[in-house]
Amino acid sequence: MDVDTGIDDALAILYAIESKQLDILGITTVNGNVPLDYVTKNTLKILSLAGENDIPVYPGAVEPYLREAVHEFKVHGNDGIGNALDDMVVTKPLEDTFAADFIIESAREHKEELTLIMVGPLTNLALALKKAPEIKDMIGRVVIMGGVVSDAGYGNMLPTSEFNIFADAEAAKVVFHKGLDITLVSLDVTHQVMMTDEHVEKLKGTKYYDFVKDATDEYMDYGLRLYGKRQCALHDPLTVGYVLDPNLLETKACHVDVETSSPLSYGQTICDFRGLLGKAPNVKICLGVDSGRFLEDFVEKLGG
Ligand code: BDR
Ligand code: CA
Repeated sequence: MDVDTGIDDALAILYAIESKQLDILGITTVNGNVPLDYVTKNTLKILSLAGENDIPVYPGAVEPYLREAVHEFKVHGNDGIGNALDDMVVTKPLEDTFAADFIIESAREHKEELTLIMVGPLTNLALALKKAPEIKDMIGRVVIMGGVVSDAGYGNMLPTSEFNIFADAEAAKVVFHKGLDITLVSLDVTHQVMMTDEHVEKLKGTKYYDFVKDATDEYMDYGLRLYGKRQCALHDPLTVGYVLDPNLLETKACHVDVETSSPLSYGQTICDFRGLLGKAPNVKICLGVDSGRFLEDFVEKLGG
């Protein structure tokens, strides 16, 4: 998993662990929602919260591939997880290996068995592909939370652009054109899986209730401003959900490119639905989601 922890990244990590279905080889961190030091510290805290000592954490890129860093403090709070684990002291050690090198090692060792779950800006994977281009033919599949395709105009950074792609569009462009098996879990579907206070209350009395309640409180207020309702989108957990159960999402193969030069639509994921460019499909986009089934499973797994 590659994360920029982030409230929904934290929930995605917990969901992946509690599903007990995945062999999580490691977690790589990337600059994104908050600067890398916070991202990494949050990731270590989340693993401690889960009582998970065996999953190694690898620090990654401190800044995007080419551009200046942008952050999402207004969504995730100044520390990235809504100050929910302020008092927790981090004891879990960090690995020495750089994230991109761990991705390269994992590709060489696990080949097509390897799934990369990317829920932050794509800097680490772009760096890995630049350093060791041959890994593009080894990695089994790449499942990315990012972009907005059919609902263009409903971005969350620019009208056309979603945060993970906007935060490092050059890296996304590198990743999208390497012939990898990519599924893009975009805002088109993640905006259909909204967590509300009712879902949180279902966790009452369980291991993660306090964390989820504290972490999502202001995130839901942000949702109120953005969507007109107190709720938060489970972007990154849905990406894990797809890996656990691919039937959750309806996908379609399409040619997708990333805009990197227009200030008006920087980071837009442009999907050639009609094949006008005559280019081969390079991404499976997601057009439909069984929201009810996902939300039920998410709450059930987090509830233990
Ligand atoms: C994505 O950006 C971040 O704010 C979230 O963690 C998610 O990965 C949604 O646009
Ligand atoms: Ca994220």
